[in-house]
Amino acid sequence: MANDNEDSGPTMWFISACVAGIIAVTVIINKICQKCRRRYTHYDVPARDISKGHRWCKTEMFTQPTYCSVSKEHIIQGAYCDSCGICVDDGAVRVANRHIPCKVLSNKSDILKHHWVKGNLPLCSTCTVCQEECGHQAELCDMRCCWCQRTVHDQCLSKFTEICDLGHFRDFIVPPNCIQLKKVGIKGRRHLIVSTVTAPIIPKWQPLIVIANRKSGNNDGEHILRSFRAILNPAQVIDLHEISPQHGLEWCHLLPEVTCRVLVAGGDGTVGWVLDTIDNLKLKPAPQVCILPLGTGNDLSRVLGWGEGYTGDVVIKHILNQMKQSRVTHLDRWKVEISHEKRIGIPLPRKMKMMNNYASIGVDALVTLNFHRHRESRPSLFGSRLLNKFWYFTYGTKDVLERECKNLHTKLKVVLDGKELKLPEIEGLVILNISSWGGGCRPWGNSQGKFPTPRIDDGKFEVMGLYSSFHIAQLQVGLAEPLRLGQGHKVEITLSGGNAPMQVDGEPWEQHPADITITSNGQATMLEYAE
Ligand SMILES: *[C@@H]1O[C@H](CO)[C@@H](O)[C@H](O)[C@H]1NC(C)=O
Ligand SMILES: *[C@@H]1O[C@H](CO)[C@@H](O)[C@H](O)[C@H]1NC(C)=O
Ligand SMILES: [Zn+2]
Ligand SMILES: [Zn+2]
Ligand SMILES: [Zn+2]
Repeated sequence: MANDNEDSGPTMWFISACVAGIIAVTVIINKICQKCRRRYTHYDVPARDISKGHRWCKTEMFTQPTYCSVSKEHIIQGAYCDSCGICVDDGAVRVANRHIPCKVLSNKSDILKHHWVKGNLPLCSTCTVCQEECGHQAELCDMRCCWCQRTVHDQCLSKFTEICDLGHFRDFIVPPNCIQLKKVGIKGRRHLIVSTVTAPIIPKWQPLIVIANRKSGNNDGEHILRSFRAILNPAQVIDLHEISPQHGLEWCHLLPEVTCRVLVAGGDGTVGWVLDTIDNLKLKPAPQVCILPLGTGNDLSRVLGWGEGYTGDVVIKHILNQMKQSRVTHLDRWKVEISHEKRIGIPLPRKMKMMNNYASIGVDALVTLNFHRHRESRPSLFGSRLLNKFWYFTYGTKDVLERECKNLHTKLKVVLDGKELKLPEIEGLVILNISSWGGGCRPWGNSQGKFPTPRIDDGKFEVMGLYSSFHIAQLQVGLAEPLRLGQGHKVEITLSGGNAPMQVDGEPWEQHPADITITSNGQATMLEYAE
């Protein structure tokens, strides 16, 4: 017993010393982190230090016959560098890092020479010099330039110019001899950033910044980032998993005379995030934003002609060619944000929808919701437009009996441009473009949901109330006046004490209690693609 007591003394002392130590270390680490974070209020385009080696991606199986760039042996699995494209056996990574140079991000030389990478040419390559097929022998042979992507036979190389013009996509690429890098950061955490960029003399040069999260769209994001590193200067490719969009958009600050292009690969949420960032940074000239849809929920991408969502393999060259043919358009920034819980500090997880025409809660959305549900359960009944109108009307009147949206005004709190609205007894609330209303278009009642997309100028919308579904019917035939509640740029709606039907641009759903914010904040410069 006495022994035990004697033992526990020193043990206790030891434990408290440890605890004190851990606390001290935590405090110090925190201080250091704070310091680093403060440094980052100024944004930098990060650049990888290629003197440390290649940017390796492991693969279980190469998708085409592959030869190790070090041993020249045929390999099934191993690693490839996503920037310069060399492939090696797992064991050869260190040798390759030391002896084979990677694609440089920056080079002080005035001229740019081709950077030839031996072997593993894309299937069906042809030689730029003799126009014959090349790279098809079963060995590590022939060359590809990792800037202009041209391919040549080993024996034709001497007949080809040494100067690289960056090839077909030169107007997207920031050439390495236009970039200067510098080392920044505290000792031990030093890293490279792009310090200055000078615009090259390339006609129609508008460098492309690619922004994506490598985790998004089932890791399609990763595939896209890698493919763009192979074609562009790797510093032009920004992974949101590591850094925020501000760092990527710093390119626009570095090149104030040039209109950059930004490709955002992701869903509407990611695009909205990038557009917000562009807004907040007040970039002039505003970059032109293009969308590569990933995952689901890509309304915006659809509207701008970039498709519903990417399936299968993205052919990057195809996307770049589409971008070359796209045109500039201005997009109104109306967005609907729905936050179910208030989370502190984490900016992303909230539902966000882009709105083109109108949004509504209550009786008007209920009609659409019922209509959609029935159409999904019995599609054969919904063939013609006329029949659709009939059903639409039927669901509207059915609701007169059900009165599902009764007392909606007690569930809603509506704040318009900071002022709370006094709601009369209404069963529906609609937020829409004033001019399209004034022009006689009534969005509700239009069973297809979408009327010709209006272009938006001053960005004010009107908030209106609906007394009942009967009121909607009267409005449709011009027998009643809408209940105008106000106009503004921002409306905050709090839905509490029960669910309510809601819709945006004719797409309905049942909304749980939430804070809903609809804001109209100017326009974004976008690229639109029409075949
Ligand atoms: C920079 O470019 C010059 C000319 O193209 C080339 O000779 C040199 O090897 C390059 N430097 C690096 C580090 O790649
Ligand atoms: C509203 O729609 C009209 C045309 O229908 C359009 O000209 C106008 O720019 C739009 N304005 C807003 C703020 O939505
Ligand atoms: Zn490399
Ligand atoms: Zn080249
Ligand atoms: Zn040849």
